Amino acid sequence: MRIDLLTIFPGFFDGPLDTSLVATAREQGHLDVRVHDLRDWSTDRHRSVDDAPYGGGAGMVMRPDVLVAAAESIWNDLAPGEPVQPPLHVAGGERPRTVLLTPRGRPLTQALVRELAGEDRLVLLCGRYEGIDERVHELVATDEVSLGDYVLMGGEVAAAAIVEAVVRLLPGVLGNAESAVQESFEHGLLEHPHYTRPAEFRGHEVPEVLRSGDHGAIAAWRHERALERTRAVRPDLLEPTDGPG
Ligand code: ADE
Repeated sequence: MRIDLLTIFPGFFDGPLDTSLVATAREQGHLDVRVHDLRDWSTDRHRSVDDAPYGGGAGMVMRPDVLVAAAESIWNDLAPGEPVQPPLHVAGGERPRTVLLTPRGRPLTQALVRELAGEDRLVLLCGRYEGIDERVHELVATDEVSLGDYVLMGGEVAAAAIVEAVVRLLPGVLGNAESAVQESFEHGLLEHPHYTRPAEFRGHEVPEVLRSGDHGAIAAWRHERALERTRAVRPDLLEPTDGPG
């Protein structure tokens, strides 16, 4: 899979992309990730990417000309400044899935992560400032996604979260293929508790059933604990939904 990240803070991604399984996935060729500085598409000498809002109000708004030009170049694999003919044209046909990270987007869920993991290419566009010109929403974004019901300073943390969640689902990335499906949310429940040695630690014991070798009883116990935890912490996950959750 190829992922293009567009940001005004390219250095932000140095850590997340060079650590752990994401780094391994890149080394092994499962993931081709490219970070682009949005300012490379700015046309003024201050390399500005924002401007004052029409209608007044506090804060600055990210400019449509810069963001649309950046998306057009990346969709078509062109360098900043190379003309795209016609505008918004995409060499391979359809534009790749282009996700705008914004608190007004739909919440990131494991179902959406699975969907994104099925794409050949993803473009993640990180917003900053008070907002993004509405024309970027209209012309560039195929999806608008929020990390949760809180406001971050920008979309970078949300984009890094998408990269991690998507990359661990790519074929060949997780050593133990089963661990991708066993975890929280894949079955609509939070995870059951885990234990390793020692059997007793500071007065806290590993439940007897996990040491019994009875795989049926262990599976039943784990399911019960997962249900119990979900009921206590996330009862909303147990409510019937109209569609895939
Ligand atoms: N940018 C600012 N807040 C955000 C959020 N909650 N999710 C995604 N992008 C954001």
